[in-house]
Amino acid sequence: MYIHKELDNNYKYIEIKNEEAEAKIALQGGHIFHYKATNKKPLLWLSDTAIFRKGKAIRGGVPICFPWFGPHISDETLPQHGFARTALWELVEVKEETEKLTEVELKLESNDEYLKVWAYKFDVRLKISIGKELTLSLQIKNCDIKPFTFTTALHSYFNVSNISDVVISGLNGAEFEDSLTNEVLLQEGDLIIDQEVDRVYFGASSTIKVEDAERSFLLRQKGSNSLVAWNPWIEKAKALSDMPDEGYQTMLCLETGNVRKDERTLQPDEVHSLEMVVR
Ligand code: BG6
Repeated sequence: MYIHKELDNNYKYIEIKNEEAEAKIALQGGHIFHYKATNKKPLLWLSDTAIFRKGKAIRGGVPICFPWFGPHISDETLPQHGFARTALWELVEVKEETEKLTEVELKLESNDEYLKVWAYKFDVRLKISIGKELTLSLQIKNCDIKPFTFTTALHSYFNVSNISDVVISGLNGAEFEDSLTNEVLLQEGDLIIDQEVDRVYFGASSTIKVEDAERSFLLRQKGSNSLVAWNPWIEKAKALSDMPDEGYQTMLCLETGNVRKDERTLQPDEVHSLEMVVR
């Protein structure tokens, strides 16, 4: 079953529950901010001080970065990670496929406001499957008469028992750009996080395994050759007003993307599909 919910400030989201899992998806940003398989802990991290308000991205869950990831390439007054994560998406449908699987489709189309900051017509669909696995599939279509190039990410915040216990495998040998130092390096072995990390990996395995002291999960990716790993660590967590000071200890961002040199170009009518599956 699913229910439409609304906060006092008109912030709308839907709540989904089936035999295998439960989830919450905000219409602003097409943003899933809760997913929990039955009898398991919540998979997605959500800040205790997250802000649910028009124009503000939720700190947690899976923000959708589009049509650019990170700061805008030439205009720093434009919003970091693009406008899609704070845009109001339209709910296309909720399909209760079986008692164990619910599929939600949302869409975002270009309009006069977005055309002012990004001069291309697009149609973006986000399909979220809630079941034993969580699947997010983003389909980006060029509806313009000229090609466009974009960057994007499924900016996933995962819950971990303690960041110090986390071991991330599947990155061994992959090249990464360290966004903190601008160095380009090669990953040796598993990734362990014991300081601020902000990296873009290229050519990693399409299946990443995350293990902590209490559980492990697999992240499978399609249509992506770049993966962002981010943990703000102590000082940056303190500086983020919508994250508790100790919030960095229980979160890990692993973002399936088309980022930097993995940017994609679509010809008119072409579609690119970016997908992540977690179980
Ligand atoms: C990550 C970036 O994807 O998002 C980081 O690599 C950034 O550089 C982080 O700090 C959070 O961004 P924001 O805009 O949600 O604070």
